[in-house]
Amino acid sequence: MQPIVNIGFVGHVDHGKTSLTKALTGKWTDTYSEELKRGITIKIGFADASFYFCKKCQRYGTAPKCTKCKGDAEFTRKVSFLDAPGHETLMTTTIAAASVLDGALLVIGANEGIQPQTEEHLMMLDILGIKKVVIALNKIDLVNKEQALKVYQKVRELIRGTAAEGAPIIPVSANANANIDVLVEAIEKTIETPKRDESVDPLMYVVRSFDINRPGSEIEELNGGVIGGTLVKGVIKKGDNIAILPGTERKKEKGSEMIVLTVKVSSLHSESERLDVAAPGGLIAIGTQLDPALTKRDSLIGSIVGKPGKMPPVTDTLTIKYSKIRRIGFEHESPKDNDVLVVCCGTMTAIGIVLKAKKQKLQIKLKRPVCLASTKMAILKKVGHRWRLTGMGELAA
Ligand code: GTP
Ligand code: MG
Repeated sequence: MQPIVNIGFVGHVDHGKTSLTKALTGKWTDTYSEELKRGITIKIGFADASFYFCKKCQRYGTAPKCTKCKGDAEFTRKVSFLDAPGHETLMTTTIAAASVLDGALLVIGANEGIQPQTEEHLMMLDILGIKKVVIALNKIDLVNKEQALKVYQKVRELIRGTAAEGAPIIPVSANANANIDVLVEAIEKTIETPKRDESVDPLMYVVRSFDINRPGSEIEELNGGVIGGTLVKGVIKKGDNIAILPGTERKKEKGSEMIVLTVKVSSLHSESERLDVAAPGGLIAIGTQLDPALTKRDSLIGSIVGKPGKMPPVTDTLTIKYSKIRRIGFEHESPKDNDVLVVCCGTMTAIGIVLKAKKQKLQIKLKRPVCLASTKMAILKKVGHRWRLTGMGELAA
């Protein structure tokens, strides 16, 4: 069964996003060697979970048996979790993950309270219009009741006036597995499965791509490239022809050109099963006959998959209306001519230079083309020595 909703973990570094992913799904998503060495998340982690409800005890959980009465609980739905990195230098990875979310879990360590990335990630949710938010006040085992109540009040103040206003704040401990059932209940009640249109042409955001072959495999045993992502509308069936845009870059004698990738879907998968048809929601993987060299090491992140001839436009120049983020203690100027920006559009991240800035209208030339599946984008600018989320862009005429 395919998961039907995408929920993402965001929040400051080390506040326990990966630990909570483990508590909810049973899977430790930091597997990349650099992540294990440094103890932080670098790439987006993926794990699915099934939720259940025990009618007798009125309790939610992650197992088919109720943890209280040990009786049979009813299956409610299957969810895909995306575990984003909290480190400040990995903001674009977090934005890419957030652009495919239906709802978010903002994790705040009760011992450290609100930290810079707590605020920045909250602003990101606001910019991307993610209104279904649950706040997990984690590491509750490390504080006393007074400290917990103090952080709770500060968080309530922080979210006032944002998309997350009114979000449930659930005290939990990932390490002690405490209150996870209440967190599941808050997720089930707050982040409903959105209505999707399956009757229209498909559109999928690519969040990862890989080569599944082991080194040294025989040529006749090689599998084609695999792309993973989430369908926002329409369905994709095994055997369908799909286009992948903006495609891949081919070097020419002078410069380079973009080649549209068109390929047949040879297999479809959710985390644990093969599918014949993939529908919107949750994360899926598409097996193709593409040369695995084209898909290896996430090289197709940011691409859009759809029906050949029915794809959104591809462009490397954008005209946007820029809205600046305003926050106390965060001073920054609006972009000017020749400023370098990072533009995050869907799961694509591209560097751009401002050709012309007039009032709030910016004309930007991107270093690489993007397939414009969404009209909204997050904009990062260098403030001091760091790339910071400074505003939102909306496509303008
Ligand atoms: P990044 O992905 O790098 O931003 O970190 P993260 O938010 O995923 O944090 P992670 O889950 O890796 O946890 C960081 C540290 O906090 C680890 O040492 C965890 O064991 C610890 N930790 C996580 N949750 C809890 C908790 O509920 N209680 C206590 N005491 N420690 C916790
Ligand atoms: Mg992590």
